[in-house]
Parts: sequence; structure tokens; C-alpha cells
Amino acid sequence: MQLELSNISKQFGELRALHEVTLSVPEFQSLAIIGPSGGGKTTLLRIISGLEIPDTGSLRIDDREIGFSEDALLSHRRSIGTVFQAYNLFPHLTALENVVLPLVKVHGLSATAARDTAVELFERFQLLNHAGRRPAELSGGQQQRVAIVRAIAIKPRFFIFDEPTSALDPEMTSEVLDFIAELRKEGRNLIIVTHNMGFARHVSDHCLFIAEGRVLENERSTELFSAPQNPLLVNFLAKVLRY
Ligand SMILES: Nc1ncnc2c1ncn2[C@@H]1O[C@H](COP(=O)(O)OP(=O)(O)OP(=O)(O)O)[C@@H](O)[C@H]1O
Ligand SMILES: [Mg+2]
Repeated sequence: MQLELSNISKQFGELRALHEVTLSVPEFQSLAIIGPSGGGKTTLLRIISGLEIPDTGSLRIDDREIGFSEDALLSHRRSIGTVFQAYNLFPHLTALENVVLPLVKVHGLSATAARDTAVELFERFQLLNHAGRRPAELSGGQQQRVAIVRAIAIKPRFFIFDEPTSALDPEMTSEVLDFIAELRKEGRNLIIVTHNMGFARHVSDHCLFIAEGRVLENERSTELFSAPQNPLLVNFLAKVLRY
């Protein structure tokens, strides 16, 4: 897929979350976004996924301009599989119902078709044993895997992950990262914000470094990690890789 942003700004009150971001990411399968806390990564993801409207600027995905009218945004949002940090699931529904419900309510599948889709995916991703449990009865890693299966179920054009493992312990982190790496192996497109540099490097073919509301580096991942150019990126990598 391709991504092109032109002059995108977003301000929250006095605070400039994104400042005149213009960039073009040539053909990629998997894009990682890294950078310090508060730099604007989530804001950028929310704009790309149609959850936030920028104050200025325009956005093209695969040569298609994304309109910011409510109707355009609604269909755009429905075409993307999004998974955030944590608390992705409805707490009162079972794992299976969490996948079935959006297929019926948002994507218009019949109850039977939705159930068949969900069961097939649970089977494929070894989650069938957990299908009848509510989120509180699942581990954090299992919950995130259900959230990812829910995103897969809608057959999205691409996936967006915003720090999907930041609430997990190391073992569950690996479990979820393996899962995402598998999606990449299947050839699916994804955009992921992660604090895990090893994973960013491993899973992405292209990478953006965002700090202070600006995209300071936009490079193939192999180059960005082996020969970082921007001094803030050099500093950032030295800091996060220290331990
Ligand atoms: N809805 C909001 N209202 C007010 N300020 C916001 C809002 N969303 C983000 N901000 C501010 O915009 C800036 C960028 O936030 P953003 O969440 O995009 O950063 P981030 O790079 O995702 O950080 P982190 O790594 O901590 O998740 C921050 O200073 C944040 O406080
Ligand atoms: Mg964030």
C-alpha cells in the first residue's frame, strides 16, 4: 500500500500534536511508527484511521483521497482493522460474541454467517477453548489475540495497531507479536506504533520517526535502524536500546 500526507496539522487547545506533516511513503507492506511519548504517533494513527479529523491538510491512501465528511469517514473506518493498547473488548460479551457482534451490527452479516466466520477464525488461531469466556476470564495476551481476530474478521484493507502489547508482560507480548508477525507473513498490510524496537525492525519494511509533532525520518527500516540520520532519532534509539 501507499500513504501520502500533505500539510496535516492537528492542535488540541494550545497544544500542537501534529505540525504541517507532509510525507510520502512509497509502496510498503508494513509500516512502523516510532518516537518518544507525546510526539504525535497516536494522533497520526487516529487521523489515518478516520477517528480524528485534522485541522488542515489532506490524506491519500493508495492514490485515493480520504474525505473528511461523516459519511466518507464512516465507510473508511469500517474498512480498517484497528487494535489499540488494551481494553479493546466489550466486557459483558464472550470472546466469540465480541467478534460476532460487529460483523452483524456494523458489517451487515447474517447471525449465522457471522458465527461461522468467527468460529472458523477461532479455530485457525487456536482460540476455540476460550470462545465462551468473557474478557475478564482471559489473560491480557488472549484478550489481545481476540481483538486481533475481531479485526481480521471484517476483512480489512489494512490493519492499524497502536502499541498492542504495552499493557502485557513479556511472555504475552511475544505471543501477540508472533500473531502480528504472522499477519505480515500472510502478506497483509499493516501500520503499527510500537515501543519495541526489535519488533519494529523485524516486522516493518518502512519506518517513520515522529517527535514533537513532526515526522523527522521516513526511511526503509533497514536503513533507519542501521544508519539513523536525525539527531533526535539517534538520541532516541540510544536511550531506548540502552537496557
Ligand atoms: N484528545 C486530546 N486532547 C488534548 N490533547 C491531546 C489529545 N490527544 C493527544 N493530545 C496531546 O497531543 C500530543 C500528542 O499525543 P499522542 O497521543 O499523539 O502522542 P503519542 O506519540 O502517541 O504518545 P505515547 O507514546 O505516549 O502514546 C500530546 O502532547 C498529547 O497530550
Ligand atoms: Mg500513543
